[in-house]
Amino acid sequence: MLADKRILLIIGGGIAAYKALDLIRRLREQGAHVTPVLTRAGEEFVTPLSVSALAAEKVYRDLFDLTDEAEMGHIELSRAADLVVVAPATADLMAKMAAGLAGDLASTLLLATDKRVLIAPTMNVRMWDHPATRRNLAQLLADGVLVVGPGEGTMACGEFGAGRMAEVPEIVAAIGAALGDGPLKGRHVIVTSGPTHEPIDPVRYIANRSSGAQGAAMAAALRDLGARVSFVTGPAAVPPPAGVDVVAVETAREMQAAVLAALPADAAVFAAAVADWRVVNAATQKMKKDGSGLPPALEFAENPDILAQVAQMGAGRPRLVVGFAAETETVADHATAKRARKGCDWIVANDVSPETGIMGGGENAVMLITGDGAESWPRMAKGEVARRLGLRIADALA
Ligand code: C5P
Repeated sequence: MLADKRILLIIGGGIAAYKALDLIRRLREQGAHVTPVLTRAGEEFVTPLSVSALAAEKVYRDLFDLTDEAEMGHIELSRAADLVVVAPATADLMAKMAAGLAGDLASTLLLATDKRVLIAPTMNVRMWDHPATRRNLAQLLADGVLVVGPGEGTMACGEFGAGRMAEVPEIVAAIGAALGDGPLKGRHVIVTSGPTHEPIDPVRYIANRSSGAQGAAMAAALRDLGARVSFVTGPAAVPPPAGVDVVAVETAREMQAAVLAALPADAAVFAAAVADWRVVNAATQKMKKDGSGLPPALEFAENPDILAQVAQMGAGRPRLVVGFAAETETVADHATAKRARKGCDWIVANDVSPETGIMGGGENAVMLITGDGAESWPRMAKGEVARRLGLRIADALA
């Protein structure tokens, strides 16, 4: 998949640096050439010897190493690659990149390169959540830097949260996608995500607890596999992933229009928690209590079922239509019936009973229902569910 691609791999100083060793192996297995750069901090975690042995290449460490400059100047080194990858990308490296600092070899290469840069951030959850890191990340995304991860989980420091470096297969997939070589290259996939808001009056609305996390993870996974993704999202709690075409909507009917406008597509994944009903007598001014003690009489109309509409369209139907089913009881039975009723190819079903903590949480335990029956997947991070589903979608479209 990565035959003869040249990757400049900058290994920063984080506990996840050990994963960079495996990353080098996997990239070489796929035919890539890896030129490794180890930062001073990186050397505290992995040795130059193991890095160069695995890469079968010299490891670059110092900006002022004149032999290196004679062999290949830093400008040339940064440009000979097809892609620059930073893994692990520490808070410090991200800050240097965002600010355009060039005080050492790694940051100089990052400033001098004319190639795309993909970073795999990792750090303590508080550092990841810090406003400074948020700012740096936003700047890097605006600068066109590609980002894979971080995932959620228990970290080496013992804390739980976002900040764990993406797993190696995920980074390899992101590298493939960045080089335009993923298995979904040339495919267009529509993903719906988040809740919808159905107005009652200009300041009030009916909504649900969907965070949009699973849909955003789905869009990112499909992007990483090389797809062009149209991401139609209601007002979600999580930000949309970078590198997808975002269409922000509010109501179910806006979502329907956006999905229909995004067609044709090779596949469509309906991860949104669409409100079943909308208020037809929504007030144009803020409703007031009238002193009678009586609640306002809201009239409802059923919203269009976007999934069913797309699944049942004749000409122009995506080859693969995937629905989600959030249930609170007898999940398999309900989801199997839902698959038949809606006419979609697959249903990804999950139990969203409050005690599962799935709705709004970081993990999901899903059941995949296809024409061949039901498969129960173990509980895992929503990103991992998305990655596996993405691979299945790539298989189905192959
Ligand atoms: O019928 P239910 O809402 O449980 O179906 C869930 C599936 O249908 C999800 O994939 C959801 O995105 C999709 N859906 C839709 N439009 C609706 C309701 C649900 O696309 N109005």
